[in-house]
Amino acid sequence: MFYSQTNTLSLKGLLYIYYRYLQKRDQQRDIFYQEVSDYFNTKNVLDFNLARSAFAHIVITQKIKKILMPAFLCSIFEDVLIQKKIKPVFVDIDIETLNIDVLKTQEAMTQDVDAILAVHTFGNPCDLSALIDLKEDYNALLIEDCAHALGAKYKGKLVGTFGDFSIFSMYKYFPTIAGGFLISKNSLTDVKYEKEAFNLKNLLRLLYIIDIFHPIIFRLKESFKNRRLVYESGSMRKAPIERCSDFDLAIFNYFFKTLEEQVSGRNRVGRLFDQKIYSDKVIKQKILTDNISSRQSYPLIVKVPEARDHILKKLRKKGIMADKTWHDAIIFSSRVRRTFKVNVSNYPNAVSAANGIITLPIHSNYNKKDVDFITNNINKELRRL
Ligand SMILES: Cc1ncc(COP(=O)(O)O)c(C=O)c1O
Repeated sequence: MFYSQTNTLSLKGLLYIYYRYLQKRDQQRDIFYQEVSDYFNTKNVLDFNLARSAFAHIVITQKIKKILMPAFLCSIFEDVLIQKKIKPVFVDIDIETLNIDVLKTQEAMTQDVDAILAVHTFGNPCDLSALIDLKEDYNALLIEDCAHALGAKYKGKLVGTFGDFSIFSMYKYFPTIAGGFLISKNSLTDVKYEKEAFNLKNLLRLLYIIDIFHPIIFRLKESFKNRRLVYESGSMRKAPIERCSDFDLAIFNYFFKTLEEQVSGRNRVGRLFDQKIYSDKVIKQKILTDNISSRQSYPLIVKVPEARDHILKKLRKKGIMADKTWHDAIIFSSRVRRTFKVNVSNYPNAVSAANGIITLPIHSNYNKKDVDFITNNINKELRRL
């Protein structure tokens, strides 16, 4: 089976990390701050329960009222936009990179825009130089959304080191229960938030990251999702702004050392996917030559969107648990459309991406046989179109 969960832990691994955590419980936060500060070369780091909390913290402390953001993006941002009365200016994406379209960003920019959200979609660095020029011309803030892009590089330099603020999500790369953080070149306003407490939701997430329970919880989650009872991502997963739990910091600290290895392994697999998926019925994500994606997942845009769900079903039957990440992009949310008077037809590329997206799982430890199995199955389905 090929799951998209970035990594899972064996029970033994979990117990080992738990044991280490118990021994150095009070030091986990210091270790985290030291490691992350060294890695990004900044002393300005704050941990959060999730990346969305880091984002909320920025918009509140910086008093952001108008923000420019890509139209192809998860709906997680809608709560804070609506609650804090922040006006989003959506900009269409480039269908090849799946990142914000720079020319359209320049056209949409106005003097009253307080910030630009530079999202590195699925780990692919967006065009930071153009966005930096723009933010400087308009005296706006640049917020890098690196939720997918831990370890990705733009022209040889780590993403997250360009923006005024940069947010990261821990569980999208490592088997933590949740967790996020914020870094900045400038000193950060700290607020005393509560530390995330352990609850039933976290227990389920804990089981989700343990290899033997993962398939069961995965199925449970999928069946609930289908019945619309719970919905893990998106605005339904409401969360207060909190600090990261010590245990998540311990898991993160343990895995952070493996980041470079993970990124290079995923890129090896990503390049093989690039070579072996050959159909002209899909658009593969273009990563500019100077950049390194963290390859959080491997996206394909099916040019025949009516066929997307059928392909997904077929792949899943073969044990390839591909997904359709952001098929419910923020511009489709009825609340967002109503509140901000969004007309989705202004964003044709975002619509094509949302309707055609398939995200394939990608892991650094896939061998040639795994890659062949995944690519042969996807090619087989694409040949039928
Ligand atoms: C691009 C992007 N930014 C931010 C977030 C929010 O991350 P978190 O779930 O850690 O709040 C997500 C997650 O869903 C995301 O995909």
